[in-house]
Amino acid sequence: MEHEKINAEVISVFPDKVKISVDDLEDFQLAEEKLKVGSYLRIADNDNAVLIAIIENFTIEVGHNAEGEPTRKYILEANPLGIIRDGKFERGGDTIAIPPKKVEPAKTEEIQKIFEESLADKDKFTFATLSTNSAIQVPVDGNKFFNKHIAIVGSTGSGKSHSVAKIIQEAVCAREGTYEGLNNSHIVIFDIHSEYKSAFPTARYIDISTLVLPYWMLNSDELQELFIDTEANDHNQRNVFKNAIINSKTQHYEGPVENKNRIHFDSPLYFDMRDVLKEARDINTLEIDTGEVYQSGAKKGQPKTTHGSLYGQLTNFISRLESRLNDKRLDFLLGDRSRTITFDDTLKQLIGYGEGNSNVTILDLSGVPFDVMSITVSLISRILFEYGYYYKRLRCNRSPDETINNDVPLLLVYEEAHKYVPNSDLAKYRASKQSIERIAKEGRKYGVSLLLASQRPSEISETIFAQCNNFLALRLTNPNDQNYVKRLLPDTLGNLVEKMPILRAGECLLIGDAVVLPSIVQIHECDPKPSSNDIPYFDLWKQEWIDLDIPSIKEEWYKI
Ligand SMILES: Nc1ncnc2c1ncn2[C@@H]1O[C@H](COP(=O)(O)OP(=O)(O)O)[C@@H](O)[C@H]1O
Ligand SMILES: [Mg+2]
Repeated sequence: MEHEKINAEVISVFPDKVKISVDDLEDFQLAEEKLKVGSYLRIADNDNAVLIAIIENFTIEVGHNAEGEPTRKYILEANPLGIIRDGKFERGGDTIAIPPKKVEPAKTEEIQKIFEESLADKDKFTFATLSTNSAIQVPVDGNKFFNKHIAIVGSTGSGKSHSVAKIIQEAVCAREGTYEGLNNSHIVIFDIHSEYKSAFPTARYIDISTLVLPYWMLNSDELQELFIDTEANDHNQRNVFKNAIINSKTQHYEGPVENKNRIHFDSPLYFDMRDVLKEARDINTLEIDTGEVYQSGAKKGQPKTTHGSLYGQLTNFISRLESRLNDKRLDFLLGDRSRTITFDDTLKQLIGYGEGNSNVTILDLSGVPFDVMSITVSLISRILFEYGYYYKRLRCNRSPDETINNDVPLLLVYEEAHKYVPNSDLAKYRASKQSIERIAKEGRKYGVSLLLASQRPSEISETIFAQCNNFLALRLTNPNDQNYVKRLLPDTLGNLVEKMPILRAGECLLIGDAVVLPSIVQIHECDPKPSSNDIPYFDLWKQEWIDLDIPSIKEEWYKI
């Protein structure tokens, strides 16, 4: 009687980990595929259940056999993902009966079947293939994917922008039924590096020269941030500013008279910054008639006046107001068009409506001055959130049994998210952080979800990151970032992140509740591509000396 030599066996089983010892790795592998971190194993028991697990790491144990010759054993650690029972795959669930009978690499057909059958065709949204086997498409549940927030993290050059572009390109061409023209997807990209225009040639493209934002829709915090020197902490400035805005809002209000005394600083009403400036100047130069007249001297007979209580004290404030209002770079927010743009046009330009509808709106913010970036992003984000909020209210009022809160849901894409929502309490980030955190917490209910891309995940506000349900973790080399991501990933699979600093461009750990099986995937290449900001130095340097057109550079520099 000859016993079959057992090459691989399970040596321990924990709820979230299985350890396997393999004598001969060559014999253990499938012919067509090398085992790697991220490959799947199947572990069968005697009850016809098969546990699918993903390899998290390999170690080699060196020992000796009876003859004193050196031996090596491979120890594989794998994370259980789910069970195939009666031909059906279930995520999670209980583990297999112990002791496990047999362990081997999962069969290609078995994995393929899991991806194919775990989602109905109409729910499948596909932008990647399995990294270890490019024949296997890896779909996610499209509804769950977009309804919850998405995070894409990876070092520079790992493929974030290409992944963002691919996901949006797929979303824009997805269709149910046959119709001509656009589908109903609505995506707004906050693009600080002017990267996305080339990936979406037909998108609505808005940059600093075409963007028009109404300053009168800024909330009180944003207005103060913009116009008041917050360091000076001057109550008089604040009070004058606040009252002047309320006065201007009241003066321009065209609704029922009885509402006028309910108007406050944050009422979403039109006001004119010129009124505010005038009122501040008037107060700063106020002379109060005392009712007396000069009895003698040069002014004899003229009315006697005293200075108002704030006489001369608002000079700094006024010059700040003036310099903001005269700053050409802020024309998109404070210029004539900002005074006249209507609410309807503001909203339309941002969500793709109007002349030439568009699924994708690219907000190229590269020209927005750094010191107003936060309030700009905050204002736009808040308008988009409130659109969702009020649209839901409207729909529910119209039909109380409405089950879909928003039939025109939005996806807001923040490239370099750590720049808008950093893990920092500095005042200069407060506005954008507040607005985006609100979307992270409540946006889902109102059909406003987020896609955050970042090369510095550890610098992103944890409040926001913790609200993301689906992750694409591309190559991450910084240990701080790896640790941070690991901690926030929804599964026990976080360890994979530090095991994978050598992923190729576009290769990532795809994980989250829209995902059938957590997998290491290769994102499909997008077409057309976002433009890279990489300059081919060496190519350029090798060319003949280039004559620089310095006068034109000067002209651009001096433009106001
Ligand atoms: N899915 C992919 N397939 C193939 N190549 C990719 C893929 N994603 C990115 N790349 C390559 O990697 C490079 C960097 O990608 P990019 O998206 O600009 O990275 P990041 O935004 O993370 O800095 C690109 O030049 C591109 O050619
Ligand atoms: Mg990028």
